Amino acid sequence: MFKKLTLSALTALALSAGGAFAAGGEGHIEDFDFSFEGPFGTYDQMQLQRGLKVYTEVCAACHGLKFVPIRSLGEEGALGYSEDEVRAYAAQNFEVFDEELDDFRPARPADNFPENTGVGAPDLSLMAKARAGFHGPYGLGINQMVKGMGGAEYIASLLTGYTGETKEEAGVTLYANTAFPGGWISMAPPLAGEDVDFDDGHSNSLHHESQDVAAFLMWTAEPKMMARKQAGFVGVFFLVVLSVLLYLVNKRIWKPVKYGRKD
Ligand code: HEC
Repeated sequence: MFKKLTLSALTALALSAGGAFAAGGEGHIEDFDFSFEGPFGTYDQMQLQRGLKVYTEVCAACHGLKFVPIRSLGEEGALGYSEDEVRAYAAQNFEVFDEELDDFRPARPADNFPENTGVGAPDLSLMAKARAGFHGPYGLGINQMVKGMGGAEYIASLLTGYTGETKEEAGVTLYANTAFPGGWISMAPPLAGEDVDFDDGHSNSLHHESQDVAAFLMWTAEPKMMARKQAGFVGVFFLVVLSVLLYLVNKRIWKPVKYGRKD
């Protein structure tokens, strides 16, 4: 019986390993250090602000964030902007189509970020949660328990993973990328380093810009991460206290039986 079980487990493992290898082309993901990793991790507000700048000045030319309300930039625990700053940001950077006016007008905080404009460029609102950087070993997902899902790592690795090689396929130019599954992506390298100037004087190398915009996209995909972690801690704390109380109550209830007189 036991032998049979071991055998079938081994077979399953071998099969899934074979599958993972056969699928092939899984990209190389660098394990960047993000401030929001781990149970105590929080977003770095300055990094989110820098990421927003990269998104606005570079990525927004093709991509959209249609599920993200612009006003959420000013919410508590977000990017730390005041209401006026958010209003100015919306009006300066985006135009939206207003059905009542039947015309375009400057965006307001109540609007969402515009949809994508580039052909084939996916919406990025939830991209950091839709992609996983870490899978293995052999698709078992054990890496994810240690390193996290790695959505932000995937995006940062994608942006830094261009090798410079290109090829033409059915009239479409494809760019070699070490992180993209399959190795060839139709997005031209959007960042080269020194694409934007950061107000806080932070380095704008390719590596830093990529990490900043990846952190920002993690925030768009999970703006309430910090609140979620906090709620988790309160829950665990409550359960610990409850366990201690239940243990003591249990002792007390059974005390007469254990130590009591026989009569
Ligand atoms: C010139 C237009 C253009 C710009 C600018 C651009 N992208 Fe893209 N992006 C694309 C296209 C097209 C695709 C689809 C590529 C594919 O599936 O082959 C894409 C795909 C992606 C993907 C999804 C990859 C996947 O796993 O499917 C991510 C993430 C991404 N872009 C991030 C960014 C970020 C971050 C920026 C800004 C730094 C940016 N892009 C700037 C055109 C653009």
